[in-house]
Amino acid sequence: MTIPAYKNPTLPVTERIEDLLLRMTLEEKAGQLNQWYNLGPDDYDQVRNGEIGSGLLANSSTAGNNRQERVFARGINEIQKIAVTESRLGIPLIFGRDVIHGYRTVAPIPLGMAAAWSPRLIRAVNTIAAKEARADGIHWGFSPMLDIARDPRWGRVAEGFGEDPFLAGKLAAAAVRGFQGNDQDAIPQQFPVDRIVACAKHFVGYGAAEGGRDYNSTEITPQTLHNIYLAPFKAAIESGCATVMSAFHDIGGIPLSAHRYLLAEVLKEQWRFGGFIVSDWGAVGELVNHGIAVDGGHAAQLACNAGVDVDMCTTMYLRNLPALVREGKVSEARLNDAVRRVLRIKFALGLFENPYADPNLSQTVHLLPESLATVRRLAADSMVLLKNSGVLPLRPDNLTLCLSGPLANQRQALFGCWTPDGLEEEVTTLKEAIKARLGSETWLHHCDLWDDAVKLARASDVLILALGESAGRSGEDNCTTTIDLPAGQEALVEAARRMEIPIVVVVFGGRPLNLTRVTDWADAVLFAWHPGITGGLGVVDVLFGDVNPSGRLPITFPRATGQIPLYYNHRPTGRPMPANDRRSSRYVDSLDTPLFPFGFGLSYTTFAYGNMRTSADSRIPEISVTIEVTNTGDRAGTTVAQCYLRDRVASVARPVRELKGFERVSLEAGETKTIVFKLGPKELSYLDDNGNEVLEPGRFQVWVGADSNAELGAEFEITPDGKWVGGD
Ligand code: NOJ
Repeated sequence: MTIPAYKNPTLPVTERIEDLLLRMTLEEKAGQLNQWYNLGPDDYDQVRNGEIGSGLLANSSTAGNNRQERVFARGINEIQKIAVTESRLGIPLIFGRDVIHGYRTVAPIPLGMAAAWSPRLIRAVNTIAAKEARADGIHWGFSPMLDIARDPRWGRVAEGFGEDPFLAGKLAAAAVRGFQGNDQDAIPQQFPVDRIVACAKHFVGYGAAEGGRDYNSTEITPQTLHNIYLAPFKAAIESGCATVMSAFHDIGGIPLSAHRYLLAEVLKEQWRFGGFIVSDWGAVGELVNHGIAVDGGHAAQLACNAGVDVDMCTTMYLRNLPALVREGKVSEARLNDAVRRVLRIKFALGLFENPYADPNLSQTVHLLPESLATVRRLAADSMVLLKNSGVLPLRPDNLTLCLSGPLANQRQALFGCWTPDGLEEEVTTLKEAIKARLGSETWLHHCDLWDDAVKLARASDVLILALGESAGRSGEDNCTTTIDLPAGQEALVEAARRMEIPIVVVVFGGRPLNLTRVTDWADAVLFAWHPGITGGLGVVDVLFGDVNPSGRLPITFPRATGQIPLYYNHRPTGRPMPANDRRSSRYVDSLDTPLFPFGFGLSYTTFAYGNMRTSADSRIPEISVTIEVTNTGDRAGTTVAQCYLRDRVASVARPVRELKGFERVSLEAGETKTIVFKLGPKELSYLDDNGNEVLEPGRFQVWVGADSNAELGAEFEITPDGKWVGGD
């Protein structure tokens, strides 16, 4: 018996896809574009009929804290077997899940990951997450989230890489490569068997939700859309990201899951994205709520014609696409294009040849010691030392510590949002980590009750207060009207201050918080984000100086909620704000500056930046920015050298500064290194309202230093006749 061409692995994939398409009915095609969640026995008939193309393992389903229930692979195999052996064409299902920051080995939240400014470590932890997830039978992870966020009230700020498109773009590429295992800048033809498909989300502009309220409408100008919000997505696509998720919200009245210009024209045509677009959960059906579709059929028509290939959990595609094609409201070519995109990924995953997962694999892949060591390192490197009067690092000998505060012994708060596969009992709390580091309990007093803590603190040398947010205070649908610390926490620091012993505040959180008073009152403040399964250990690594802190803020920390939105790469205005005279862009009741600027973070040593030069290369359009960085302190440490640019005069007002390069630089005490940043046409141009690069001659300013306020600067020029001229 001859096998059909699409089942023949020796044939080219395109041939297999075309052969399969020819055999499919309209209903089976619509089935491939239908994703449904928590598939179980009730769904077997639909799978058998070819009505489901993809499964979504939702949070609450197979997961749970009982590990026995968590054996996804068995459940997945059972359903997969029906798809492969009992459906007419035997097309395997693709299973997706929210693998957001680690899997069983929970890594810091993405905003924390970003604070390490380390593409290398992000790739490493995403590799771990991919291996763990794939060992459980999962093929596809719904991350990275690439929503630029300038509003920390928005709970999902925790899930992204912060406010800067350049940093987010570099980290996006690393995250994608970690998941997918690809070094080449293209969607893999064949995914490694131990990796998963990445999904860049939520395309696009979701972080601009008005009022910082989730799912809310946005108003984004074409300038800001192309230069800010789209930029990290472009970086992800350029590094081979195989899927994209269209967002819930609307921009100026057009919901993203029906945004033909952005999905079809920008993403698929201009950027030549060859993977598939999945809507966010229910977003196709919600086009009715948005008021642009009369019913589910109309919604399916709008979404499909706009470019959404897969409908996440509404069945609108399944129920309506065949009729829409028959009626000519959706072309068969569009339907075929969507199906081809999905099949291409299924073939690239090797699912036609190897549809099943090995149910025993997870035991040998999950929570490996080297994985735990990697996420611990990332946790420590992500922590940002905001203040230190000298009390840190702690010197454990003969030191009596008192630990208190609501998060001192919390597990879930170390996880943060989206940890469906992390098990709380596997987390080391801060208290446990300190105890382990000290080797005995003698030197540690811990108490949850503040009255007792006061007594014990009096008998201690240093008070450590663990403050901040619970895991459930950020992430999806967890927005706040204020970025102040939760009730009572500031009062705790104020009271502690009266005891006149050094206070170290460790803050866990999923967003920038208002630490104005806490920073005044405490002797040291360490911002630890939600640092993951080894987060308690990571805090201890930093507090005791085993790791010299090198985290830098990937997002501005305002002084007050009312300053929002506050971000470093704003436009200059006609009345720039640091002017001393009246009638400048400022507040009467607060300083205009942030409490901590983008890029900020301290170390236990000090660094000096000097000898800056800019030079042009006469052969190619490129400026080299050279700088020397010296460790001027007495211990080894790592700084993050950051290169900022300003285009002095352009047809459109350009930001006062934009990050264009960064490098983690590790230096021994007294050591100096020379760093070179290269700026070419890509870095010097901006995008016009259609997304085209525009490079205008004129003067540019460049700064290199330790944060976005770096003072050491130089100038260079592109002359009207196109010559690149350095400043020296
Ligand atoms: C809705 C969220 O917005 C998205 O980020 C997530 O991936 C999907 N649900 C699937 O759970």
